[in-house]
Order: sequence, then C-alpha cells, then structure tokens
Amino acid sequence: MRIAMIGTGYVGLVSGVCFSDFGHDVICVDKSERKIKMLQDGEVPIYEPGLDVLMAKNVAAGRLTFTTDLTAAVDGADAVFIAVGTPTRRGDGHADLTYVMAAADEIARAITAYTVVVTKSTVPVGTNRKVHSVVSAANPQAEFDVASNPEFLREGAAIDDFMRPDRVVVGVESERATEVMAGIYRPLYLRDFPILTTDLESAEMIKYAANAFLATKITFINEIAGLCERAGGDVKEVARGIGLDGRIGNKFLHAGPGYGGSCFPKDTAALARIGQDHAHPMQITETVIRVNDEVKKRMIEKIRDACDDSFNGKTVAVLGVTFKPNTDDMRDAPSLTIVPALIGGGARVRVVDPQGRAEGEALLPGVEWLDDPYTAAADADAVVLLTEWNEFRALNLNELAETMKSARMVDLRNIYPSAMVLGSGFEAYVGVGVGDQQQSRSA
Ligand code: UDX
Repeated sequence: MRIAMIGTGYVGLVSGVCFSDFGHDVICVDKSERKIKMLQDGEVPIYEPGLDVLMAKNVAAGRLTFTTDLTAAVDGADAVFIAVGTPTRRGDGHADLTYVMAAADEIARAITAYTVVVTKSTVPVGTNRKVHSVVSAANPQAEFDVASNPEFLREGAAIDDFMRPDRVVVGVESERATEVMAGIYRPLYLRDFPILTTDLESAEMIKYAANAFLATKITFINEIAGLCERAGGDVKEVARGIGLDGRIGNKFLHAGPGYGGSCFPKDTAALARIGQDHAHPMQITETVIRVNDEVKKRMIEKIRDACDDSFNGKTVAVLGVTFKPNTDDMRDAPSLTIVPALIGGGARVRVVDPQGRAEGEALLPGVEWLDDPYTAAADADAVVLLTEWNEFRALNLNELAETMKSARMVDLRNIYPSAMVLGSGFEAYVGVGVGDQQQSRSA
C-alpha cells in the first residue's frame, strides 16, 4: 500500500512511522520546511519514547520519506491521511477546521486515480461529509471516497498504543474504501485486534465520546478526592474499591491535579459546542470542564496551606511541569495554572522537568530551571510533586528533607505513602484525597 500522511504533528508522525513499520510505503508531508528538513536529517521534532529508533529503521528500509510537496505525495497514493491540527477556535470553543479543509482542497487537486481520503484529525460529526464536498468541488473528476479513522494514542505510549490498540475505528462510505482500509490495517487485523467498521458519523462521534468519557472518569474521581478530604476516606482505597467492579474498571481513576494535554481539554470543549449547536447541551461534559478548572485551583490552595497560608517570600520546588510524564508537551498542563499562582503570590519557584524546559521556558516566565530535585529543594519551604515522572518516584527522601529549609511535601500525584515521607525527615506531607483521620493513621 502507498500512503500519504498530511501533517507531521504528533498524530501524523507517529501514524506515518507506524504504518511504514507495517511494511507500507509512507510519505509524510508538511508545509513547514524546517520540520521536513529536520525529519530528513533523521531528527524527531517531538519527544516520544522509541519514535526515533522506529523512524530510523523505516527510513533505512526505504519505506518512509518526508516532503513538502503534497501533490507528488498524493499522486499514486492508495490512501491520503489528513492529520493536521484542529485547535480550539478562539472565542467559541469550536474545533477549527481551517487546516483540514485546506488540506482536503489541496489533496483533491492532486488526485489522479482512486484514492481514499482519510481523516485522522479529531473532527466534529459531519466533517467527513464536508470533506467529501470540498474534494468533489475542487476536482469533480476525482475518483475517491472519504473515511474517518480517529486516533486514540496516548502521548508517551503512542507507539505501543498504535501497534497494540484496544480497537481501530474506521468510518466508511463504500465497500471499496473498506477494502483499502482493511489492507492498511491488515497487520493488526491478522493479530486479532478489533477493527470496528462503522458509518462516518458514528466514527466521528466515537472519538469525542471516548475522550469525554475518560475526562469524566478522571474528573469524577477528582471530585470524590475533594470530598474525601472533607468527609474522610482515602481516594486511593475508594478507587481500588470501585475499580474492582468490572463494569467500572480500574483505569483512569488516579486522582490528581486535573487533566490536561492536547486532547481532553480540546475535545471536551468541542463536544460541548457541538451539543449547543444541536440544541442538546452536553450537560455532563460542560460540568466536567468546569470542575476540572476548579480541581486545578484547589491544588493551589493545598500548596498555600503547606506554605503557612502565604506564598510571599517562600521558595517552592516544583517537580514536573509537563501535563504528564514521558512527553515534552505543556498543552493545558495543570502547571500553567498552578505555577503562575505561586509566582503571583510572591513565591520564588524552581522547576525541574526531564523534558519540559524547551516549551516551558516561554510559558512559565519567572521560574528558575534546575536539573535535579535536590538542588531545586535546597533551602526551599516546600516541594511540590506535580508530574509523576519515574525520576521523581525514587527520590532519596532523607537527602531531600535535609537540604530543605522546611521539609514539606505536596504530592499532587499521590506517588509516596505519607508514612514513608514523614518517616524520612519531612515535617509535613499533603497528598490528594485523604481525610484527616486517614492522614494521621497512615502517618
Ligand atoms: C488522551 C487519550 O488517552 C487518548 O486516547 C487520546 O487519543 C488523546 O488523549 P493523552 O492526552 O496523551 O491521551 O494522555 P492520557 O494518558 O490519557 O492523560 C490525559 C490527562 O489525564 C493527563 O493530564 C493525565 O495526568 C490525566 N490523568 C489520566 C489523570 O489525572 N488521572 C488518570 O487516572 C489518568
């Protein structure tokens, strides 16, 4: 199979590299000459574990190339994937489809034989039919079908998610397109990964519904965590107890500082917008968005409490600022709400993050970047664990406590048991979702 992948952002690049690893001929296209030059030089513009090795392997095998020439890439392709950005449009929360439609128009003009135009970007219900109209209008002679193939990969685990997916969803409008898509995903199909073939609109809806559901699950446990802190109980025990019910499941029940990232905030906002447009407000999703903002703000109060009710003149070491570990992505990271509040309150903030600095420097002005947690914590009034990088899971707590001015830990990811921290020279430990009685018991 020959595949053109339009857009070398996160989804496009990972998908392109993985498709080439399936044995397909893949050409990745991007308008940015700088990005294409980097890729041609063997450099990966994003941080994703394992991607560099897989990319090098398939480039060397001659199956993976990079170009800015969309027309040449589309000519002769069996399938052209649109994997361009669909950011939240300013002002109204809609997904901005400018890039998707511009790509569809350009692809149309380059089609010379039967091609399936596949949308991988997350797009509102009805978009694939619009893509069909745009292609038909731009090239009435074009022989083509559209297909919707939403992507469910997680940053930091993207290759494994692509190669061993829970499911692949393909929305199609013809038998011919079904065959092309089956050919592309045959390596997964033959290994019994479920491939769900649906109509176009269902495929589009599945992506939004899945992300909104997961965001709801996280937000629900975050709300229970807040209640445990007031009414009593330990959210970790509660999550274990409810997660053992197979109907609920134990994943995505880790209470923390609120969800962030490139998908959940954007897709929940878009779904809420779609609901409003269809006079069917998505009330649960709208509430999830609001509660998630409140969760982030609640974290600021926790840190303030640990700093004796004032940030003024305090030094706070923040460990981790990316929205989750194993990524350099700062999009909608809780740190973007929390760190400025500390600085605004007069704190001096030192940050350590294994990958976050490149993006974080512009987004978090006024912080001091350091390379290791011990230097960051030296003479600090509190250390805040904000992103659960492995590097922060095995800290020498005694050493950390010794260097601090007042050894207080605010663990927003519940990495450490309170008793362990308090037994290692810390004077205070604050986790997420633990009531007073349980706090003293575990201490
Ligand atoms: C998500 C979806 O998982 C993926 O299927 C979709 O394609 C894109 O969006 P991603 O944003 O990469 O992936 O990260 P994910 O691991 O899902 O985490 C999202 C956010 O939720 C992070 O901020 C994370 O810290 C938070 N989270 C996740 C929790 O707070 N608790 C949990 O139990 C799980």
